[in-house]
Amino acid sequence: MTIRLRDVHFTYAAGTPWARPVLKGIDLEVPAGECLGILGGNGSGKTTLVRHMNGLLLPQRGTVQVGEITLTPKTKSSRLLSGETGLVFQFPEKQLFAETVYDDIAFGLEFAGSPAGEIPGRVEEALRQVGLDPGTYGRRSPFSLNWGEKRQVAIAGVLVLDTPRLVFDEPGAGLDPAGRRRITDLMRELAGRGKTVMVVSHHLDDIFRVADRLAVLGDGRVVFHGSLEELCRHDDLDRWGLEWPPLIRAVKAVAARHPGLETAVRTPREAAAVLRPLLQSAPSTPPPLGKGGLRGI
Ligand SMILES: Nc1ncnc2c1ncn2[C@@H]1O[C@H](COP(=O)(O)OP(=O)(O)OP(=O)(O)O)[C@@H](O)[C@H]1O
Ligand SMILES: [Mg+2]
Repeated sequence: MTIRLRDVHFTYAAGTPWARPVLKGIDLEVPAGECLGILGGNGSGKTTLVRHMNGLLLPQRGTVQVGEITLTPKTKSSRLLSGETGLVFQFPEKQLFAETVYDDIAFGLEFAGSPAGEIPGRVEEALRQVGLDPGTYGRRSPFSLNWGEKRQVAIAGVLVLDTPRLVFDEPGAGLDPAGRRRITDLMRELAGRGKTVMVVSHHLDDIFRVADRLAVLGDGRVVFHGSLEELCRHDDLDRWGLEWPPLIRAVKAVAARHPGLETAVRTPREAAAVLRPLLQSAPSTPPPLGKGGLRGI
């Protein structure tokens, strides 16, 4: 049930003077059960790309294959993938509309024609998955919730559909660190249960923690596709509009003096493990911080 994109092209306002080519030949494979992180600067085409993964947009050239279904420029129905890939939009809470949290989450199931008897149990399960107690939250108005809770409800509204694949477009945008952590933990849990997860984010530290592999978009193409270890061998992320997270930047600064040091660290604990052998061989009294201090490490 791999997702396979072959030579996908997409231009907004094609055929008009305002034509804006965004995807210019995307080749990408996402095996079932993988968590893929999609990176790229503003306007690099990440949202346009993920909208092809659930058929919201159809390729104008090339093909998008999701499991048994292949979308081509000639495909008539864009709803073919609606039961295949769930998409959590950028700022999904803007789409909350019902009077209660329960009704908002149940709406997608009702629309999909799920048996009425199944709905309450599935809504409650989706709420639990995002860390909200169904008894406390089910009857509340979505508009009375704080931003983080709204985001959790909006995500529950997609999880409830139980699609084998999920796309999160900037799931952490506007959330505090605890909210972002909750969502990265959720994505990891979903991938652990065998779901294919694709996540777009400008928070590279979050994405590095959850993704098995990474794809970087630049000028409408996939300019990098591989593991964090492979990405860390590139030193010029800034040409793609990106910047290393502070933890990796710190380890890279040390690696400049110690070639061969592994810089693909995802957590402070991993950074400590990489640096420990160097610290053990350093003098027991460290030099003072500031000019010249700690530079020798
Ligand atoms: N509906 C549209 N009509 C015309 N141009 C669009 C439309 N949607 C997006 N674009 C343009 O296409 C380009 C790619 O947009 P897209 O939203 O895919 O980028 P992105 O990588 O998701 O950016 P961001 O990091 O800001 O979310 C941008 O320059 C954007 O202005
Ligand atoms: Mg976007």
